Amino acid sequence: MRLFVTGSRGQLGRALQRTAAAGGHEYIGRDLPELDITDATAVRDAVAEARPDAVINCAAYTAVDAAEADEARALAVNGGAVAGLAAVADEAGALLVQISTDFVFDGASKRPYREDDPPHPLSAYGRTKLAGERGAELARRHLIVRTAWLFGDGANFVEAIHRQLDAGASELRVVGDQRGCPTYAVDLAGALLRLLEAGASGVVHVVNQGQASWFEFAVEIVRQLGAAAEVVPISTADAARPAPRPAYSVLDASRFRGIVGADLPPWQDALARRLAAEERANNVDGCPVD
Ligand SMILES: NC(=O)c1ccc[n+]([C@@H]2O[C@H](COP(=O)([O-])OP(=O)(O)OC[C@H]3O[C@@H](n4cnc5c(N)ncnc54)[C@H](OP(=O)(O)O)[C@@H]3O)[C@@H](O)[C@H]2O)c1
Repeated sequence: MRLFVTGSRGQLGRALQRTAAAGGHEYIGRDLPELDITDATAVRDAVAEARPDAVINCAAYTAVDAAEADEARALAVNGGAVAGLAAVADEAGALLVQISTDFVFDGASKRPYREDDPPHPLSAYGRTKLAGERGAELARRHLIVRTAWLFGDGANFVEAIHRQLDAGASELRVVGDQRGCPTYAVDLAGALLRLLEAGASGVVHVVNQGQASWFEFAVEIVRQLGAAAEVVPISTADAARPAPRPAYSVLDASRFRGIVGADLPPWQDALARRLAAEERANNVDGCPVD
């Protein structure tokens, strides 16, 4: 398959590049500054030139807290631009794949969220991503993949904890009253390709197996790194972040399992692979040069 990927230098875009190549797919990636998805003409030209089977939109305004004070810009990227991509995908006869988020839910559920549960975002980011889902639904052929708590190459929770440990932190204060599904960008990329190969459409939840609070996630990162730091749970109120977040945004991935016939691995296993990949990269960087 020929894949046209926007936001190609983000966590998921980069993971998709490697995974697509390994799976024998052609990957055409674009990101800022060469392609801004809010520039409808540039997007139309780039997609027309690429003639893809699928347009995979990994581009997004992902700064959840900053979006509270910048909702118009976040909406242009996460909402308006996606409706534009839907039109362009239709013109190219391509499937549109839109990546969405657990933050479209309000966290009031007592069981994992299914695809047809009513969304009710609490934050500006969540509202703009829901607008993106509505935009993607305008495409004749669309697949909306909701994922959560992504970690890959780039700015993410694993990297943030690692950075604090490297700086010598002996105590980490981490929110303990929000639960979700940590998900490895590499596993999500593989899952996307399997969904494409299976001809999936509509909304599908894709997360690594299991669930955790941010506190439990941090404890596991510290444990796997063999670090000595103490992790202390704090409340959402204590963290005082600008954007409200769902207290519970665990996604039910049984539709994904039904389509591809397997679950993604547990998030702890995914974390171990992520940390091992980083270790390998550091070893290569540290090799003496002749
Ligand atoms: N990260 C998470 O925890 C998480 C959780 C659930 C869902 N998601 C969704 O998963 C998808 C991938 O997330 P990610 O973590 O890979 O995001 P990311 O690492 O922040 O990557 C997003 C990429 O999009 C680019 N971008 C931003 N505005 C753009 C524009 N106007 N035109 C073109 N490119 C633009 C960014 O460039 P700059 O870096 O230069 O801005 C960046 O390279 C997004 O749809 C996100 O909403 C993420």
